Parts: sequence; structure tokens; C-alpha cells
Amino acid sequence: MFNAHSMDVIAIDGPAGSGKSTVARDLAMRLGRFHLDTGALYRALTWKALDQKADLEDAAALLALLGCTALGFEGDGRILVDGVDRSKEIRTPEVTRQIYRIAEKGEVRARLRPIQRALVSGRSAVAEGRDMGSVVFPDARWKFYLDGDESVRAERRWRELVPGNPSLTREEVLTELKDRDAHDTQRAAAPLVCPPGAVRIDTTALSIEDVIEKIEKIVQRKG
Ligand code: DC
Repeated sequence: MFNAHSMDVIAIDGPAGSGKSTVARDLAMRLGRFHLDTGALYRALTWKALDQKADLEDAAALLALLGCTALGFEGDGRILVDGVDRSKEIRTPEVTRQIYRIAEKGEVRARLRPIQRALVSGRSAVAEGRDMGSVVFPDARWKFYLDGDESVRAERRWRELVPGNPSLTREEVLTELKDRDAHDTQRAAAPLVCPPGAVRIDTTALSIEDVIEKIEKIVQRKG
């Protein structure tokens, strides 16, 4: 249910590599808030659809699959899909490549909306994604939009991914990031935008710590 508690949300949106996941996780820990990683929910559904060999173009089949899927988070942020920790499975390159096919479907997004609100319901939260301030938590008390130069964001992603995949090149990561930016900003359903009223932070030349400090100051001022 969407209720007054949704107001106590710090909504953080932004493209891949903007630093929002690390910022959201650390900020939530510092402020004692629940961290809602909505990318993980889209990834979980994509993983399950691939695992079950569902047709990713069949919105009805995806809705049926979502209807019989339990999504939740452990206290430490690991994602549970039907009660099983799938944190590793949801971050494979295959899931990252296919996710836009799920994320672009308005029907799927509409069904995920109440799930996201229910996960937050009754608690204070930091919610991160692509449509937090614009669609899922339009009444969030605080809204931030993190952005940054494409090449710097790609470099961050590459540093994150290369330990698990030593042959990965920077060019591959930049190509994947450009693709994802294009899909996220150009889809008809809830495209990535800087929501009205959001504070925009260019993270190109900032450390994670700098970004968290900026956000914390604003949250305390308006708290
Ligand atoms: O934040 P992430 O990289 O884990 O997100 C993966 C993809 O999920 C992203 O490219 C688009 C989609 N997504 C979305 O469409 N809406 C959200 N609120 C969160 C993620």
C-alpha cells in the first residue's frame, strides 16, 4: 500500500556507474534506514525469467511469473528470491544484458510498483533506482539525482567488475553502459529522468564520501 510512511524516503535516482548503489547502501547504514535496491528487484525477475526459460517478450507470462515469486531482502542487503539468496546470480553479464526487456514493459513496472512500496511500508528508507522520485515515491521527502561523465561512470563500473572478470576491457564496459543509458532514458514506461524537485549532484569529480556528506547535510537541514 502507498501510504504516508512513503514520505520518509530518501529517493536516489541516476544512471549506471553514478555511484548511487554504494551511496544508498552506506547512507542507509549510517542513518539506520532500510536500503531498497530496486535494480535488484528488476534483476531478480530477469534472472528468474531466464532460469525458467520464460519468453522475455511475453508480458503476460512475465506477470504470471512475478505473481508466483516472493521477493525480499536480508538485513545485510542480500536479495532473497523465493526464500533463497540469489545475490550473485542477479549480477551476471547475461542478466545485465537482458534486463532492459523486462524494465521496458509498463505492465511489469506497474506490478513491481506496489511491491516496492510494500517493502518500504512503515519504515524510513533510502530507495535507489531509475524512477524512485518520479514514479514509485513521488512524495518522497528528499529526492536526489546522481549523474556523472560517461567515461568516469564506465571506469567505476570496470573497477567494480574486473576482479570477477579479469579479461573485461574498459571499452566493453563503456559500450554496455551506453546501451543501458539509452534503454533507461528512451523507454516509454517510466524513463530515467531527473525528477522535479530533485537535487542534482554531478559525481564526476567527487568521492563516494563527498556525495554522502552532501546528501547527509541536505537531509539534516530538511529533517
Ligand atoms: O541499478 P542496477 O544497475 O542494478 O539496475 C539494473 C537495471 O534495472 C537498469 O539498467 C534498469 C532497471 N531498473 C529500472 O528500470 N528501474 C529501477 N527503478 C531500477 C532498475
